[in-house]
Amino acid sequence: MQDIDMQALCGYAKQFSGLDEQQMAVLQQVYPDVSGRLQEVTNTFYGSLQEIPKTHTFLEGRIEDLKRTHVAWLNELFTSDFGEDYTRKLYKVGDVHVKVKLPVEFMAGAMVIIQSELIRIFGEIYADNQEKMLKAIRALNAACGFSLLIMQESYQSSSMAEELEKFLRITGMSRVLFNNLARAYR
Ligand code: HEM
Repeated sequence: MQDIDMQALCGYAKQFSGLDEQQMAVLQQVYPDVSGRLQEVTNTFYGSLQEIPKTHTFLEGRIEDLKRTHVAWLNELFTSDFGEDYTRKLYKVGDVHVKVKLPVEFMAGAMVIIQSELIRIFGEIYADNQEKMLKAIRALNAACGFSLLIMQESYQSSSMAEELEKFLRITGMSRVLFNNLARAYR
């Protein structure tokens, strides 16, 4: 993983997603109401993915392990402080997906499924409190947007790093020579 300024990336993702202290407080308030339903979200998520043939090669034989890491992340989505550590962690999660060559659109698609399922659950548990429902949905949108942005950022730089490695392997050029050339043509 390259030398990334996680603090700057964290701030940048917060600007786009609108994730602020208020939204984080909402997520923490919502957590006790939703925590008992998160396994259900994970199960629905993998059920939906399995209906998409292109995902099969990535899921075969590992669904139970993936469910475990996924539900742990979902819990974090409601409890994290969304600081530098969370940013670093999500950046690495993006990296793991690049390493298994997961298509980049899977990330955005996955987030849509997760949000849709959680919004459905908020609709059920806050049926009598529209204001709370709306606040919960907006905070969820911010947290998912933040997480997606970080993972995609990692995708972008990891993919570029992989392409560069391939280029160096094919051409036989040393990294030192490449760096010198890159500096000269800056
Ligand atoms: C919102 C989207 C997603 C999140 C938050 C997420 C989260 C995670 C996490 C936390 C891990 C463990 C990372 C680690 O070992 O450090 C992981 C691994 C993995 N995920 Fe995802 N995931 C997402 C989408 C997907 C999708 C759509 C697929 C496939 C269709 C997928 C397939 C995998 C695979 C195959 C691994 C295991 C990689 C390995 O250990 O070799 N993920 N994911």
